[in-house]
Amino acid sequence: MTTRTCLSIVLAAGLGTRMKSELPKVMHDIGGLPLVGHVLKALTSAGSERISVVTGPEMPELEALVFDLVPSARCYVQKERLGTAHAALAAKPSLKFEADDVVVLFGDTPLVTSETVGRVRAALAEGADIAVLGFETTNPFGYGRLLTEEGRLVAIREERDASETERLVTFCNSGIMGFSGAHALSLLESIGNNNAKNEYYLTDAVEIANAQGLKVVAVTGSETETKGINTRAQLASCEADFQERMRSAAMDAGCTLLAPHTVFFSHDTELGTDVTVEQNVVFGTGVTVAAGARVRAFSHLEGAQVGAGSVVGPYARLRPGTVLGAESKIGNFVEVKNATFGAGAKANHLSYIGDASVGSKSNIGAGTITCNYDGYLKHRTEIGASSFVGSNSTLVAPVQIGNGAFVAAGSVITDSVDRDAMAFGRARQTAKEGRAKKLREDLQAAKDAKARETKS
Ligand code: UD1
Ligand code: MG
Repeated sequence: MTTRTCLSIVLAAGLGTRMKSELPKVMHDIGGLPLVGHVLKALTSAGSERISVVTGPEMPELEALVFDLVPSARCYVQKERLGTAHAALAAKPSLKFEADDVVVLFGDTPLVTSETVGRVRAALAEGADIAVLGFETTNPFGYGRLLTEEGRLVAIREERDASETERLVTFCNSGIMGFSGAHALSLLESIGNNNAKNEYYLTDAVEIANAQGLKVVAVTGSETETKGINTRAQLASCEADFQERMRSAAMDAGCTLLAPHTVFFSHDTELGTDVTVEQNVVFGTGVTVAAGARVRAFSHLEGAQVGAGSVVGPYARLRPGTVLGAESKIGNFVEVKNATFGAGAKANHLSYIGDASVGSKSNIGAGTITCNYDGYLKHRTEIGASSFVGSNSTLVAPVQIGNGAFVAAGSVITDSVDRDAMAFGRARQTAKEGRAKKLREDLQAAKDAKARETKS
């Protein structure tokens, strides 16, 4: 563990014109978290003490996200977008902290891990003045090329400024660059804008440092971890890589995924040991599944906690605020929202349970609906423990069903039901002897009479 102090500067002011979006580029999601959020997560787990983020003018939602994820972060606004070196200089006040290491990262390179940031810092600790994270790719188009000579990094050439031979180089710049704190500010301030885009390129720091006799090295990372996002296609490709990473992590942690490539995770999905996830399951954000639970095929979960040993699905939908106790069961075509189920409680078929609590060991029959909304306000349904709600019941909230109560099938329940009581909220059944037969005879006679009339 290094004792060197670190300042990280995340550049996130770019609009990402090629995304063709109203949203700032770094606010597009991977695994339900904006791109820049992934970078911030990696930095916090890498132990970066100070994190500065450079945003563009009028990006309040980006600033809010940064402070939400890293309350101690500082945000700086780059007023005009004049390039990556210009963006890094927007965070100039933070450079006055005089950290040992200054790591500059891009908000559009979301899959970088804390280990890799650590490797860049290790190169600085070993005496490099600049350490650039590079990667080998078969498709270098659009990336800055790392030009090396006898193991030294001599320059980074942007696609537009590269000669034909330089374009053949497949060793590319990830955008992640470490600077020794002693030289960071003066190097950034020496960068000019004499290039094809008339921008201040961060990458020019490499040639300037070499001219000053400083030590510049390249650290090699993996392509999946370092690829940047400039287009929607690259966003989709990064999402696919991220999903692969999450699937492997889940299996390594002791979960069974029956068809891993059909299970989609969010950045914060937490699965306990011996959880089984069947085919075609989607985890939205904020889901935890405790040990031994089974999520059956075609289920969609979001903002939900699933208790140990529970079974969810097939075809279940758990919406935010769902908390399922141990050994509970939510079956096919059941939607649960903002509702708790006690241990061993069940809703096995075709129900909507919203703004409700269901006590332990209670059984919710097929087709039960909690009517939680009157068009203006939401109301709660409270169902006690060991109660039984018969099929096709409508529970009009606010309403309470006591412990051990029984609701007869097909009831519309508008008044609370006491503990151990049995409620019938439906018309009493009556049957008329022979009435069906008589009705058939009458109808047939009427039909025959009509047929005779048309004939004559
Ligand atoms: C950049 C690198 C390139 C590298 C590639 C890796 C430079 C000059 N080029 O190119 O060598 O291979 O990333 O993905 O550094 N940004 C600002 N303000 C600006 C310009 C950019 O904050 O004025 C931010 C963007 O939000 C983005 C990042 O910096 O997060 C990189 O900018 P981008 O325009 O995507 O650069 P690339 O063309 O991808
Ligand atoms: Mg980019």
